[in-house]
Amino acid sequence: MEILRIENLSKHFYLHSLNKEIRSCQNISFTLEKGQFIGIVGVSGAGKSTILKCINRTYLPMRGNIYYVSDAFGLINLSSASEREMLYLRKYEIGYVSQFLNVMPRTTAKEHVMNALLEMGENAQKAETRAKEMLSYFKLPENLWDVYPNTFSGGERLRLNLAHTMVKQPRLMLLDEPTASLDNKTKLLVKSMLIQLKHKETSMIGIFHDLEFMEGVCDTVFSISEGALTC
Ligand SMILES: Nc1ncnc2c1ncn2[C@@H]1O[C@H](COP(=O)(O)OP(=O)(O)O)[C@@H](O)[C@H]1O
Ligand SMILES: [Mg+2]
Repeated sequence: MEILRIENLSKHFYLHSLNKEIRSCQNISFTLEKGQFIGIVGVSGAGKSTILKCINRTYLPMRGNIYYVSDAFGLINLSSASEREMLYLRKYEIGYVSQFLNVMPRTTAKEHVMNALLEMGENAQKAETRAKEMLSYFKLPENLWDVYPNTFSGGERLRLNLAHTMVKQPRLMLLDEPTASLDNKTKLLVKSMLIQLKHKETSMIGIFHDLEFMEGVCDTVFSISEGALTC
């Protein structure tokens, strides 16, 4: 059963100050089945993150359709869904793990993970228990749980992002280089968490530069070059 169908997705940026157009991705089409894991590889600047950002609607696609089969809304085109619908989907159904930290000011690491559950209506006690479980799972040192994460290292930020997104168990996960700047041991933890999520029928699209890591996790791997899929 299909959960996502992308048809002719294109995105470009117009840099007014330079009067220049930058093509980011062009005519991307593929489908993702429920429970499937698609890997995307390609050199830096190829347009990989843009695809995930269009699905998450961090970027508004210029052309094309992104049909998603939502639990709440049924079939919905993410390239034209309302902001309210997208907020709902990001809260309950679609998880996005980026390499960058996006945390509200004066929010500790633990509160950040708890907030992901609180906004879904979970009670505070359960949210705290689950948050601690996830932070331990991803081996974020306990003495950092009550610290504001803006001083975290790259690897610590990524662990926090993973805990924040995975605690929700979203039905569609978008992973933008989720293993960059992690040591081997933590990479293996991420891999085992992804395999667990896969067993729970989570559908996933992940960008990896580490082909070796994807062995046995991804069902299909697409390569992207200059904004276009090459296989
Ligand atoms: N917000 C933006 N404004 C202008 N150009 C952008 C923006 N986001 C991405 N790009 C450009 O689009 C191209 C693809 O970027 P990206 O999707 O981030 O590549 P990748 O993830 O494969 O490294 C790059 O040339 C990048 O500079
Ligand atoms: Mg990228």
